[in-house]
Amino acid sequence: MVFYFTGTGNSLYIAEKIEKKPISIPQIMRGTEREFAADSIGIVCPIYGHEVPSMVREFMREVSFHTDYFYMILTYGNRHGGAAELAKQLCETCGIDVSYINVVLMVDNWLPAFDMNEQTKLDKKVDEQMAVILEDLQNRRKAISPVTQADREAHQQFLAGMSQMPADAWQHLIRMTDACVGCGICTKVCPSDSIRLENGKAVHIPGRCQTCLACVHACPYKAIGLTVPEKNPQARYRNDHISLGDIIAANGKNGER
Ligand SMILES: Cc1cc2nc3c(=O)[nH]c(=O)nc-3n(C[C@H](O)[C@H](O)[C@H](O)COP(=O)(O)O)c2cc1C
Repeated sequence: MVFYFTGTGNSLYIAEKIEKKPISIPQIMRGTEREFAADSIGIVCPIYGHEVPSMVREFMREVSFHTDYFYMILTYGNRHGGAAELAKQLCETCGIDVSYINVVLMVDNWLPAFDMNEQTKLDKKVDEQMAVILEDLQNRRKAISPVTQADREAHQQFLAGMSQMPADAWQHLIRMTDACVGCGICTKVCPSDSIRLENGKAVHIPGRCQTCLACVHACPYKAIGLTVPEKNPQARYRNDHISLGDIIAANGKNGER
């Protein structure tokens, strides 16, 4: 049993490598089922600021997992900042006995720091990284991906920077522009129902936004930007192996393609 959270498809691609039909965390969070039992249970998700998205944290706090082998695979694009260690601490606070945590370097979809046209040119050897992880999972290996002092310092530095910003700064990251034609795709790819159409235009509602950037990357008109500078406002990304329909099925309210 594999659960996943995704904004631009990297984590879904990885989850599907582990199991054909992984389960969407946003869809579970919209429902009432809170007990899961299986021979092995895993979570695949991106890291945001070296930690798992807030909805994944909520999911881990609310759900009871009954398994002998619990694991997490964290996708990231540039610097994991000790994400495996932070995820292990999260498991402990949620009462989850975690056996294995690993990280996978993929395309970085963080638009303030990266030009997607440049990111997609890099070969980050995802399948090679996954071959090792798949073998580990098959052998039910017990291991937490190593974390260095430099990783920990990078995270502390990040937290120090965040503490200078208003607590809800990330809730105001998404910026709708006049280029919006009201197609509604952004409302369907949002995992937290944070966008609605008003008078034929998309409106972002702060509060539960995961800042996954699914809406920004999926808008066919590039009508959604950020309130901070972007490296290339014309470059957008979705994992090559994942369709728009897959993202809608993962995150949309009705899960329809
Ligand atoms: C809000 C946000 C924060 C991110 N923070 C980090 C980070 O701290 N370190 C990193 O290496 N990548 C970071 N990334 C990049 C993503 O973790 C990476 O591209 C991931 O594979 C995206 O997964 P997805 O396609 O399943 O959404 C961040 C992306 C977003 C949107």
